[in-house]
Amino acid sequence: MKTKYIVGNWKLNPPTPREAKALLAKLKKNISGARGVKVIVCPPAVFLPLFDATKKKNFFLGAQDALSVEFGAFTGALNPQILKYSGCDYVILGHSEVRERSDDNAMVALKARAVLKSGLTPVVCVGEKKRDTQGNYLEFLREQLTASLSGIPKKDLAKIIIAYEPVWAIGITAKESDTSADFLHNSLFIRKVLAKLAGQEIALKIPILYGGSVNEKNAEDFLRSGEASGLLVGRASLDVSQFGKIIKIAESL
Ligand code: PGA
Repeated sequence: MKTKYIVGNWKLNPPTPREAKALLAKLKKNISGARGVKVIVCPPAVFLPLFDATKKKNFFLGAQDALSVEFGAFTGALNPQILKYSGCDYVILGHSEVRERSDDNAMVALKARAVLKSGLTPVVCVGEKKRDTQGNYLEFLREQLTASLSGIPKKDLAKIIIAYEPVWAIGITAKESDTSADFLHNSLFIRKVLAKLAGQEIALKIPILYGGSVNEKNAEDFLRSGEASGLLVGRASLDVSQFGKIIKIAESL
């Protein structure tokens, strides 16, 4: 059985450490510890140490971004080492909101290399901006993925996770999620690109998650029919009952 990853991206929520602790305490009651599912919560980075001591076997912490170098004088930044010593095992990179503010593909690749060097797992996000039923975005996706992984040695590509998140499906302004059928198609395409970079054997092992308006209603469809290796969940990860149901669905498959 392949491991499934359920990643909660809390973005700038909740506003206070006290609420963050309460949210996590409730959430952990929903994690049964079933084998085969890894739950990764990515709170605002300042909250990471609050949760470190409470990690369980299949519960991990992630960060929402990291600096592109391991060490140096970088006022205001958080490098992968600091994140690691704050309890973090995973780092989301190239999220569309970060790409929008600052990062191009080359920066995502630099960050991924620094994160890997520190022994953390990058969750590299890719996805087209606009819905396009003609499939013209596939070339964009190929380029984005290839450039975002540039310079990563093959053996390290075996350690990454990809999250396919079409930008039009993310966040409160999104009108809909992708469909499981389209996700399956896109993930096969992503795997073909990965095979070019890393070889078939490694490409088959790289988890490809779906993200973008995931909720308790569509989670099963993405995991079952879409054959997603997991889900990257934004809004619904802040709702303990919804996120708990999503975890249970993953555990039941
Ligand atoms: P959403 O966010 O689930 O609220 O659409 C997903 C994300 O931003 O990763």
